[in-house]
Amino acid sequence: MQRNNKEIHTLEFVLHAQNEADTAHFAAALAQLAAPGTLLALDGDLGAGKTRFAQAFAHGLGVPGTVNSPTYTIIKEYDGGKLPFYHMDVYRLSLPEADELGLDEYFHGEGVTLVEWASIIEPILPPERLHIRLETTGPHSRKIVCRPIGQRYEAWCRQLRLRKAEEEGTAG
Ligand SMILES: Nc1ncnc2c1ncn2[C@@H]1O[C@H](COP(=O)(O)OP(=O)(O)OP(=O)(O)O)[C@@H](O)[C@H]1O
Ligand SMILES: [Mg+2]
Repeated sequence: MQRNNKEIHTLEFVLHAQNEADTAHFAAALAQLAAPGTLLALDGDLGAGKTRFAQAFAHGLGVPGTVNSPTYTIIKEYDGGKLPFYHMDVYRLSLPEADELGLDEYFHGEGVTLVEWASIIEPILPPERLHIRLETTGPHSRKIVCRPIGQRYEAWCRQLRLRKAEEEGTAG
């Protein structure tokens, strides 16, 4: 179904993280929603916090040990959490190179995939996914924009917006 821009905008969830802990808290909360086949497509400038986000997400999944940047390994698989965690960084790949890797096996596997620099491989991403854009707004602050594609992730964003409204309601 085709949606106009205004509808797309209202489907989004936006968080203003004041510090690294806010980012980590949000990523860990998203991990609670994760299910087999979950796909998180991260983008944002160098140093925006994509890997930091991935680390907190993995922690939220219960992945033991250290999660490093997969810039050089491209794909790293972690077991031991509630679901397998597939952490990818496609910064160094072209679209044809990524296409040759057979990423579909991961996307349709039993685990959860998080891709850093996902826009590079957008044409070969699964049709349903959650885009997460990290924008640096200050030394420690980040704007985190979640854009859902598909009903599963639209429901996630609805839930996140509701939760945020409740928190703001009780805080005020
Ligand atoms: N609110 C915040 N959220 C996330 N990271 C933050 C925040 N504030 C400061 N940081 C710092 O920003 C840096 C983010 O680095 P990170 O490696 O996660 O970025 P990246 O987007 O993965 O970069 P790259 O494009 O090189 O992969 C870390 O040093 C982290 O401590
Ligand atoms: Mg990174």
